[in-house]
Amino acid sequence: MKIGNTELNGRVILAPMAGVTDSAFRAVCARFGAAAVVTEMVSAKALHYKDRRTPELMRLRAEEHPAGIQLFGSEPEILAEAAKRCLDYGPDFIDLNMGCPMPKIVNNGSGSALMKTPELCGEIVAAVKAAVPVPVTVKMRKGWDSASVNAVEVARICEQAGADAIAVHGRTRAQLYTPPADWEIIRRVKEAVRIPVVGNGDVCTPADAAHMLEQTGCDAVMVGRAALGNPWVFQQINAALSEQPQILPPPGLFERLTVMARHIEALCEDKGERRGMSEARKHVGWYLKGLRGAASLRRMAGQLSTKEDFKELLRAAILAQQEHS
Ligand SMILES: Cc1cc2nc3c(=O)[nH]c(=O)nc-3n(C[C@H](O)[C@H](O)[C@H](O)COP(=O)(O)O)c2cc1C
Repeated sequence: MKIGNTELNGRVILAPMAGVTDSAFRAVCARFGAAAVVTEMVSAKALHYKDRRTPELMRLRAEEHPAGIQLFGSEPEILAEAAKRCLDYGPDFIDLNMGCPMPKIVNNGSGSALMKTPELCGEIVAAVKAAVPVPVTVKMRKGWDSASVNAVEVARICEQAGADAIAVHGRTRAQLYTPPADWEIIRRVKEAVRIPVVGNGDVCTPADAAHMLEQTGCDAVMVGRAALGNPWVFQQINAALSEQPQILPPPGLFERLTVMARHIEALCEDKGERRGMSEARKHVGWYLKGLRGAASLRRMAGQLSTKEDFKELLRAAILAQQEHS
């Protein structure tokens, strides 16, 4: 599939996840075959007011590309200005958030609240499109709630306003993240527009990816939670979708620990040891899921403060594995 003129090398994309998909994690996912990655959501208003901490969210490593910077906001001019500022960081596309369900976002009319005013969605896409030379994509939900399922309408409006691709998360805002995602709405959006459509929601395995592509006709799938502590999911999905489909085995212990250690090293490089280690806690907990002795290792993960603590944890993980074998 293409986003604008950028040809993607694969059909599985890393979903934007606030607090998770920072540069260190995106780079790991890109290395394992994510065909594109998207930053955590960035506030257009914060960019407007030149907030000091916002630029960090937009920094992209060379190995992450193709990468999109995701913006949230509700005012077309502010979003257009923010999109221009993003260009300093070299994104391959700008993604507009029309799906976030969090109260502090929707109460300001941003995220999924935009779906309540489809015309405004169109105005935003048109303003951003006019402001930047890179492709503009939209990530939306099924609708605001079950009484207002309007992804097809919003997608058509965004396409008309110039959007280059659309990702659809098959849940309404009211459903947050829990009930099974509705893939039928993804199929309906795909039928309604000519630009590429990316399906999202509950793709956890290669089989899920294949089913979503088949059932909805979407051009690519987007994986969020299944990638937590599991960047191999991209490699596994790519292998299963290739011309000579293969089922790749899960990574062994050494591979898991090595990739995790590199990831955490990059995290500390970007954010310093103190913050890096505090943010590493959740990632390490995810990487350790399913390992022998995971419960006690995860307790250690929850207390990581220094690189020395992390080395200790690696040693304990290897020891726990040896003890059980
Ligand atoms: C922790 C977390 C943070 C998220 N942050 C964002 C975000 O910043 N922008 C966005 O568009 N979606 C965000 N999402 C939604 C995901 O991109 C995705 O749509 C959702 O998780 C469904 O996909 P999945 O079933 O593959 O996880 C977030 C989801 C999670 C779990």
